[in-house]
Amino acid sequence: MLAVRIHQYGNRDALSLDDIPIPDIAPDEVLVKVVAASVNPVDWKVREGYLAQMIPHPLPLTLGWDVSGVVVAVGGEVSNWREGDAVFARPDLARNGTYAEFVAIRASECARKPATISHVEAAALPLAGITAWESMVDTAAVQAGQRVLVHAGSGGVGSLAIQLLKDLGATVIATTSERNRALVESLGADQVVDYRTARFTDVVEPVDAVFDTLGGQVQEDSWQVLKPGGIQVSIISPPDADQAAARGVRQGFVFIGPNAPVLTRLAAMVDSGRLRPVIGAEFALRDIAAAHALSESGRAVGKIVLYVGTP
Ligand SMILES: NC(=O)c1ccc[n+]([C@@H]2O[C@H](COP(=O)([O-])OP(=O)(O)OC[C@H]3O[C@@H](n4cnc5c(N)ncnc54)[C@H](OP(=O)(O)O)[C@@H]3O)[C@@H](O)[C@H]2O)c1
Repeated sequence: MLAVRIHQYGNRDALSLDDIPIPDIAPDEVLVKVVAASVNPVDWKVREGYLAQMIPHPLPLTLGWDVSGVVVAVGGEVSNWREGDAVFARPDLARNGTYAEFVAIRASECARKPATISHVEAAALPLAGITAWESMVDTAAVQAGQRVLVHAGSGGVGSLAIQLLKDLGATVIATTSERNRALVESLGADQVVDYRTARFTDVVEPVDAVFDTLGGQVQEDSWQVLKPGGIQVSIISPPDADQAAARGVRQGFVFIGPNAPVLTRLAAMVDSGRLRPVIGAEFALRDIAAAHALSESGRAVGKIVLYVGTP
């Protein structure tokens, strides 16, 4: 089968389209024929070696940790999936990923693909969707009527977070640049701040929660817009707990793992018309370097999806 692997950490030249054996499955795993995968910033961060201390990946390594596809074999202990089932997943980051024609995944990490969208759309959901859910539902525990600031509302995570928050009944303020204003408004944002022409600290009234998807100065400045008792949740780096305490607010940090129960909730939202993935670009597996270049640019709109093969 074809797979995009790295044999050593490095820049995009390290990406290698290899012909390798289809993986064996363990008794608790399924073999999934990949229809689509998606590209997330973590993919090129792993490629560069930025996570090597945290996750000691054996090399060569197949990249990519989002998939939608069809089960073609089940391990002996697996009772919840059968050959032919359409599934989607954000599999374990510590294992070989989904930039491949087939991937072995723990059965417990898979969820049934939403019925009303394509595999290409479904592949856009798992990693970013779990991230938005764990950050805004589980960690910030946003309630109806609350005000939330979502940074980078046009990104893979932000575009789903806005929709989840509107579904919860929150008022959403999102930052993006002017070219993405119409998209972000169409997702439900009540106020859009063009970060290139305005400082959000000047134009955003106090909020109950901030979703920090950018880190650095954005995280530092975000304390200023929180109501007393509010919360800043970051997916970039843990916000300073001392600063939060001194300001009378709270902070949280999320680093996701596989979460099939949340995928099932997201699929139900999709199939009831309350959530839709935004696909900004689609690439073939062999064009992975161009897909990584787009992700690394920081200018991706919604999700970048890789089309791998027919179901
Ligand atoms: N901790 C975790 O578990 C976890 C999970 C998922 C993602 N992450 C991390 O979260 C970050 C976001 O991920 P993502 O997939 O959403 O990224 P992404 O899709 O690549 O984000 C791109 C978007 O960010 C916007 N943007 C860039 N700079 C901005 C700024 N200064 N203010 C407002 N918007 C800005 C861009 O809009 P313009 O083009 O208009 O500027 C673009 O649409 C990444 O660093 C990723 O690694 C962490």
